[in-house]
This record gives sequence, structure tokens and C-alpha cells, in this order.
Amino acid sequence: MGLAEKVVLVTGAGGGIGKAVALKFSRLGAKVVVADVIEEFSLNTASQITEQGGESLAVAVDVSQISSVEEMVKKILDKFGRIDILINNAGITRDNLLLRMKEEDWDKVISINLKGVFNCTKTVIRSMMKQRWGKIVNIASIIGIIGNAGQSNYAASKGGVISLTKSWAKEFASRNINVNAIAPGFIRTKMTDKLSPEIKEKINQQIPLKRFGEAEDVADLCVFLSSDESNYITGEVVKLDGGMAI
Ligand SMILES: NC(=O)c1ccc[n+]([C@@H]2O[C@H](COP(=O)([O-])OP(=O)(O)OC[C@H]3O[C@@H](n4cnc5c(N)ncnc54)[C@H](O)[C@@H]3O)[C@@H](O)[C@H]2O)c1
Repeated sequence: MGLAEKVVLVTGAGGGIGKAVALKFSRLGAKVVVADVIEEFSLNTASQITEQGGESLAVAVDVSQISSVEEMVKKILDKFGRIDILINNAGITRDNLLLRMKEEDWDKVISINLKGVFNCTKTVIRSMMKQRWGKIVNIASIIGIIGNAGQSNYAASKGGVISLTKSWAKEFASRNINVNAIAPGFIRTKMTDKLSPEIKEKINQQIPLKRFGEAEDVADLCVFLSSDESNYITGEVVKLDGGMAI
């Protein structure tokens, strides 16, 4: 798929989806930068990559802080000399109904999920522009399209990510940089493990495929959207939701 030797930066790569994405790219021969705010998580994913026989760089980064992102990008460029693919995956939830939502829950979600995507893309894009090749995949959410009661901060952040995706697709097309988003529905990870069995069952009833997706499903789509097989796709938001939002 043309991914061997490519340098891929995956944020939130210590978590469920990010780890699956990092391991998948590594199996395809890419050099993977495993970035997470919890260093132990980054190191854990990186050691699994080493066990698979792959090459990686583990970094601790807080995507909501531009200085932290700049430090990370410097480390990557010092080691690998370039960044070909950026997977903006780091994200959190702080759910509550609007009347109970605290200002800090709003700020935290927006600063990681939305500003984090701005910080990482802004800092990485120069390297992609110089080489006139790049792929950016933003992990949004189906909630950013359809909304959800009790998740307005999260929905706003992911809706914002979708708008950034479309704007940057137009801005960087002339530099041969594709920018796309994935809108997962419910995927089995730590983020959704918090839901009670009753809620999970209710959700399953709303999904035509009657089950949650797997982190590997997201990884497969990330790989496709980063490969030469998707060169004519940009500014697209691909739903990955078992049919939930048909
Ligand atoms: N799991 C789902 O059902 C689902 C559905 C739609 C979208 N998503 C999105 O997929 C992405 C990954 O989610 P997941 O389910 O793997 O969650 P997860 O909680 O398992 O992993 C998220 C990772 O991001 C890291 N992180 C948190 N804040 C960070 C920061 N400031 N800087 C760097 N890293 C940070 C965490 O340490 C964690 O390792 C998120 O953007 C999430 O919104 C998930």
C-alpha cells in the first residue's frame, strides 16, 4: 500500500483505537511515532511494536499545549527527518447535560479534541508541504454529525474537527496533502467500557449490525485513507458505525 518506510505520527496512541492504529501501520512497515499524554501508555504501545519487529519512537505529549507539540515534532524530525502521515486521534469525553456541565468540562474537551487537532496539524504541516506529500486523518465521531444529549461539548469538538478537515482539504490540496476524517460510532475501548451493560444493550438495538465496532476497524480505515489507494479522496468524512447513522 506504499506505507513501508513512511513516518506516521499517531496521537493518543496509548489508548484503544490509537494503539490498534499504531500496531497496524507498523505491521505494514511504517515507522511509527507513538504519542500519548501518559508516557507509560506510549512506552507500552512502543514495546509491542518492538515485539512485532517494527521501529517506533515513544513520546509524551499533551496535544492541548502547543509548546508540548512543538517539542514532540522537533524530536521526530531530529530522529526521522520527516513526517508523512498524521493521525489526529487523541480525545476525551467529559459528559453531562448542559445544565450540569461545568465550564472546565467544556474547556477540557475543546482544548484536547479540537485545539489539539489544530496544534498538531499546524506544527506538522510545514514538513508535509515541503515534501509535497502528506496524509492527515482526523478521528472525529458520529456524535459530531448527529449530536447527542449529554455530550454537547464532545459533539461540538468533533463537529469542529469535521469543519477543520474540510477547510484543510481545500487549503492543502495543491500541495498534494489529503485531509480526511473518520466518524466512528461506538467502538469497544476504555472510552465505551464505562457504559453500563443496559446502556450498551440499548445502543446495540440502534445499530443495524447489532454490535460495537473494534479498534481494528478504525485502524483499517486509517490505513486506507493514508495509502495511495485513496489518493483521490480528500475532505471526506467516512462514517464507521455499523449503520447507526443511516
Ligand atoms: N471508542 C469509541 O467508541 C469512539 C467513538 C468515536 C470516536 N472516538 C474517538 O477516537 C479517539 C480515540 O478514542 P479511544 O476510544 O481509543 O479512547 P481511549 O481513552 O482508549 O484513548 C485515548 C488516548 O488519548 C490519550 N490522551 C488523552 N488526552 C491527551 C492529550 N491531551 N494529549 C495526548 N494524548 C491524550 C489518552 O491517554 C488515551 O491513551 C478519540 O478521539 C475519541 O473521541 C472513539
